[in-house]
Order: sequence, then structure tokens, then C-alpha cells
Amino acid sequence: MKNRKGIILAGGSATRLYPLTLAISKQIMPVYDKPMIYYPLSVFMEANIREILIISTPRDILVFKELLGDGQKWGMKFSYKVQQEPKGLAEAFILGEEFIGNDNVAMILGDNMFYGNNLCKILKRANLREEEATIFGYYVKDPKAYGVVEIDKEGNAVSIEEKPENPKSHYAVPGLYFYTNEVVEIAKRVKPSKRNELEITSINEEYMKQGKLKVEKLGRAMTWFDTGTHDSLLATASFVQTIEKRQGMQICCPEEIAYKKEWITKEELSNLADRFIKTDYGKYLKELSENELSD
Ligand code: DAU
Repeated sequence: MKNRKGIILAGGSATRLYPLTLAISKQIMPVYDKPMIYYPLSVFMEANIREILIISTPRDILVFKELLGDGQKWGMKFSYKVQQEPKGLAEAFILGEEFIGNDNVAMILGDNMFYGNNLCKILKRANLREEEATIFGYYVKDPKAYGVVEIDKEGNAVSIEEKPENPKSHYAVPGLYFYTNEVVEIAKRVKPSKRNELEITSINEEYMKQGKLKVEKLGRAMTWFDTGTHDSLLATASFVQTIEKRQGMQICCPEEIAYKKEWITKEELSNLADRFIKTDYGKYLKELSENELSD
């Protein structure tokens, strides 16, 4: 199987979260008990993507380096790249050209969070598709604020539009994309849109023209949040708190995923836990390292 690398795009100015983000990055903000970027990162881990490029602003990149390091503590490999200005999502593949090399690649937005039963299965399917691109479709009442995709019975995209006035379907496109290696060349050919950005939707349009754009529907039992406003940030945090308290299990905990995937040993997990032992998070990790693994 062809290797697939991952890009987490965690830049932008997050003006909709001012004054919270006047001095720090949105994607470092707390979502209940962990920094926001842990959630998209966990999605890549579930998809077995272990080599990751984190892209952020000149101001914020150092904070991510401090938080995540080189990835070794979780059996992963992280590298970093600065995006000088928020010129659009598609620029990630130009900035990531060297990192991507000859591999396939996936990208996730640093403020997108996914949670649900079938996610692993769906990610696996997307990962196995080596010659085509995969995006996702999530049914929402009003998709005008998103990329919107129309899907045929075979799961092919038949139209895709960025923030349309009159959406042709109810399927919003979340910020998670699986591409072939050609995405680098496609990204270089993208022209800036009316809002002067290199749009991810232009990349998807190109795959669609080539008949290579598959859409996986995320069912209604799946939760997708994008944490772009004060209200959605709080709603997401409350959701995480509710589930974690009820089940006594963590949502999107990188240490736990790394351990379950055997990327780190029991001893390594126990050492990581010691650092946070005053918190429920640390106690949870400690317990994990002491007990048999459950599902
Ligand atoms: O959240 C899903 C949506 O994300 C998709 O449905 C849309 O098709 C896609 O264009 C995008 O729309 P947004 O309007 O939400 O994109 P936004 O400009 O808010 O950027 C998304 C994230 O990416 C945000 O956390 C900031 C970061 N970003 C954005 C740009 C334009 C960067 O890191 N660099 C950039 O150049």
C-alpha cells in the first residue's frame, strides 16, 4: 500500500473569535480538557497516518512546536512549516511539496472535530483509495457557509461549490480531504477566487472533472464540529465534557490512541501519565497503563 502523509492546517487569523485570538492561535485553545489540535490529530492517528506536517502562522508555529515536539513521545513524526499569510487552504499542498514527496496525502483543518462510531471504518476506506481523492459529506440543514457537494448513487461527486447562495444539496464538506500525490501539481495551477484565496474547492473540482472524486457520507450518528465561533467553541467543549463524564472515557486522546495502536509501550504511557497526574486526564492515562485494554 502507498504511504500516506498528513497535513494539519492550523493557521489563519480567527477574527471571528476575537478577542480570544488576539494573542494566541485558535487551534491551541482549550476544548474542555485538551488543546483543539488534539482532536484533528487524533483523526489522523485513527487513520494510521503517523508522519504529519503542521502548518501555522509565523506568530503561532513555536507554540505548536512546544506542545507537540517531534512526535516521538507518541510514536509519530511531526514537522512544521510557516504559512506567511492566509492565502487559502489549497496553499498547504504547495507549502508541503517537499514533505509530501512521492506519497499520497491527507489534510485536516486544525479546528475540525469528528466523533462517531463508524469513523475508523470510513477513514480506512478513504485511506485504501490510492488512485482517487476522497472528501466527506455531512448533512446539515443550511450548508451555505461551507463547501457543498452533490453526490450520485455510486458515491461520486457530481457538483461541488464553495459557499453557494443556492446550495444544490444539503451535504456540507468538512475539513478533511484525502488526495493522491497529484494534488501538489493541481494546487500549483489553482487561481485565486473572488475572495482572493486558493480554494480547496478548486482542487476538488479538478478531481471531479477527472472523475476521481469520491464522497463518503458521514451518517447522522456522526458528530462534526467546526469550532469557529464563541458559541460553537463552547458547544464543542460541552459535548466533550458530557460524553467523557458519562462514559469515563476520553475523546480524541492521542496518548491513548498511540498506546492502543502499540506505537508506544505501557512504560512510555505510564511515564507520560506521571506528568499530568494531578488531573483526571493524567489519572486516566495511568489507569490505562495499569489495566487490560478494553474496546
Ligand atoms: O470547515 C469546513 C470548511 O472549511 C469547508 O466546508 C470549506 O469548503 C472550506 O473552504 C473551509 O471553509 P471556511 O470558510 O471554514 O475556511 P476558513 O477560511 O475559516 O479556514 C478554515 C481553517 O483553516 C481555519 O481554522 C483557518 C485555517 N486557515 C485558513 C486559511 C484561508 C489557514 O490555516 N490558512 C489559510 O490560508
